[in-house]
Amino acid sequence: MWVELLAVHPDYQRRGTGAQLLDGLGEVYLVVRAGNEGALAFYRRVGFEVVEVWSGYYGDGEDGEVLFHKETTN
Ligand SMILES: CC(C)(COP(=O)(O)OP(=O)(O)OC[C@H]1O[C@@H](n2cnc3c(N)ncnc32)[C@H](O)[C@@H]1OP(=O)(O)O)[C@@H](O)C(=O)NCCC(=O)NCCS
Repeated sequence: MWVELLAVHPDYQRRGTGAQLLDGLGEVYLVVRAGNEGALAFYRRVGFEVVEVWSGYYGDGEDGEVLFHKETTN
């Protein structure tokens, strides 16, 4: 499945909520701004890998990094 957006309220970040939301979804693809270092660190931490880079994907010209995770149990 493609995940369009994953977000945890700033007051509740770094409590494991993001990882729990992805748990058990099966194969997951999503795209993240190349400059979103926090999100990229999060996705790497929960086992995602960059499988493609979409050059200039966002309206402001920023690249999108396509991430994939086979299993979502953490
Ligand atoms: C990305 C996001 C969903 C993560 O949710 P979260 O509930 O804070 O993540 P978790 O608490 O499950 O984090 C698990 C691990 O990922 C890593 N991680 C999470 N956020 C991180 C950050 N900002 N910087 C570096 N590592 C991070 C850490 O290793 C963390 O474990 P730790 O807190 O024990 O060190 C959240 O930061 C968010 O909503 N960001 C804004 C929206 C966004 O950019 N979404 C992604 C695009 S779809």
